[in-house]
Amino acid sequence: MNILDIIKKHKIIPLGTLVTEEEVENICNCLTKADLPLIEVTLRDKKVIDVLKEFKNYSNISLGIGTIRSKDQIDLAIEAGASFAITPGFSLKLSEYALESGLTLIPGVQTASEVMAASEAGHKTLKFFPAELSGGVDRLNAFKSVFSDITFIPTGGITSKNIANYLNLDNVVAAGASSTMPESLIRSKSWQEISNNLEEIKTIIKII
Ligand code: 3PG
Repeated sequence: MNILDIIKKHKIIPLGTLVTEEEVENICNCLTKADLPLIEVTLRDKKVIDVLKEFKNYSNISLGIGTIRSKDQIDLAIEAGASFAITPGFSLKLSEYALESGLTLIPGVQTASEVMAASEAGHKTLKFFPAELSGGVDRLNAFKSVFSDITFIPTGGITSKNIANYLNLDNVVAAGASSTMPESLIRSKSWQEISNNLEEIKTIIKII
């Protein structure tokens, strides 16, 4: 199964900034237990780079690297064995570089112009970011008839309370969310609470 199919199957990309080997180990165990074998690790802290190699011990987890803003970071993602990369916005330069490098890139968009630019570069599945602040469900609904060949992964402000509103849209294939593993719970090693959050979101997704 290719990575976009894996994302579409699970409908959620849990995301977080993991900065220690212990965090990677425990989060991978939580994801495995919840049968949600994918994650976007955001490059929001220099320490993330040092722990990425730890993911090689979890070949069942599809690793995505997020907050990518440079070619070097695409190289880093490849070196870490990532299955996908996510950019917060659209950059033609990074889109072309990811394509040349053979790494699946999901670029971020917010406006119709950005959807057009990303689609012209060959991307058919786009991150919609920051979802809640950019018009949320209403904007995605408006995109539906105009960009009928494009699907979206809304991210930014997605929680167990609003995820169903997004996933019920025909042009939404999955949502990205840190709400299942917020930084506070990761830093306090609240693995059980994170597991509970993952189970909760899975239950919601199942009944959609
Ligand atoms: C991202 O990096 O994609 C977003 O900051 C995630 O948004 P969230 O923390 O509201 O889920």
